[in-house]
Amino acid sequence: MNRLSGAARLMIVSDLDHTMVDHHDSKNLSLLRFNALWESNYRHNSLLVFSTGRSPTLYKQLRKEKPMLTPDITIMSVGTEITYGNSMVPDDGWVEFLNQKWDRNIVSEETSKFPELTLQSETEQRPHKVSFYVQKDKAQDVMKALSANLEERGLDVKIIYSGGMDLDILPQGAGKGQALAYLLKKLNAKGKLPNNTLACGDSGNDAELFSIPDVYGVMVGNAQEELLQWHAANAKDNPKIIHATERCAAGIVQAIGHFNLGPSTSPRDVTDLMDSKMEKFDPSFEVVKFYLFYERWRHAEVENSELYLANLKAVCSVSGVFVHPSGIEQSLCDCVNSFRTCYGDKRGKPYWVWVDQVLPAQIDSHSWLVKFKKWEQSGEEQQCCLTTVVLSSKDASVEEGLTWMHVHQTWLDETGQNNQTTWLF
Ligand code: GLC
Ligand code: MG
Repeated sequence: MNRLSGAARLMIVSDLDHTMVDHHDSKNLSLLRFNALWESNYRHNSLLVFSTGRSPTLYKQLRKEKPMLTPDITIMSVGTEITYGNSMVPDDGWVEFLNQKWDRNIVSEETSKFPELTLQSETEQRPHKVSFYVQKDKAQDVMKALSANLEERGLDVKIIYSGGMDLDILPQGAGKGQALAYLLKKLNAKGKLPNNTLACGDSGNDAELFSIPDVYGVMVGNAQEELLQWHAANAKDNPKIIHATERCAAGIVQAIGHFNLGPSTSPRDVTDLMDSKMEKFDPSFEVVKFYLFYERWRHAEVENSELYLANLKAVCSVSGVFVHPSGIEQSLCDCVNSFRTCYGDKRGKPYWVWVDQVLPAQIDSHSWLVKFKKWEQSGEEQQCCLTTVVLSSKDASVEEGLTWMHVHQTWLDETGQNNQTTWLF
């Protein structure tokens, strides 16, 4: 949250399952499109917030399965846990606030009287969240009766039904909407209220996100019946909320365009990236573009042409060095030459390359140091390198693009080291 010195240009607050992540898209196309758009245009001055029903355990599991970005803020367990940054530092103030009129033991006792309720897995039971499964046709009656019982026991709770199967019981002050309101209040107190906020969701527990004042909202194309019903009853005249025609992350990109919140063309939608003409030197775009080419090269989605390699070499400094995460050094030009051996080696295979947390820092009037995480996923295996690149605009025209002076990579964790040989760049 303190990464930005001023207000965020855009804050996206997005649900994960069936919103940011499309579980029916085995190629992860829309997620990767969003990722490239975010990193090339927004990361450096905007905030990415994930707001999921998942516990920290299942959230971390999802990150291992899908090509996801790292958010600035992670809200988990249906707005009951807020954490900041890469090390996910919990917001203790929020925990304290949620303790009011809450007693987990009473919730457990009262819910055990309903045979219609089936307890979810142990990982999903959290300090301020008790979760069950309940059939669609029984949900309304159970919620009504349970709510009355808990009130009688002196608790002030919120019961939320999502995805036509999940029933969560939380303290009244919790929930995705309350967590967002709390965050906005905190940012405002620091004079950093985002210029625009866009909430994105697909199911019942996301409804609250759309009732926070001054926030844009997108219900993705595949939104659940329960959310659309809530919208029809509560927010249908609010022009700041749309029901996208596109599914999941593609619906989020659609909303960015619809509300004019900034650029909404993902670099992944540009077929010939080498041809894209720039208006100014753009280090983030340069990095996104390079690794997109690299993925397309290995997928054989671009032509196997010497011209491409010549173009790449043209933007590498002759004295430029690449330090592989194993510690081995190579000249940047030799490194590009070695691309010949991997053309199409991932053709038709589940293989993705994406860059995450691309943060450029200007060193002087003509050079930038760009730090980012470079991820690769091959089947189910993910590898990640913390990467630093020095780019220079000296002696280059805007059309030619920036010159790569130096690249240095370090394994983010021990996972990469098991399979060093497959990591090329
Ligand atoms: C996620 C959580 C689950 C919760 C559901 C709806 O699937 O894992 O516990 O009930 O979201 O909020
Ligand atoms: Mg969802």
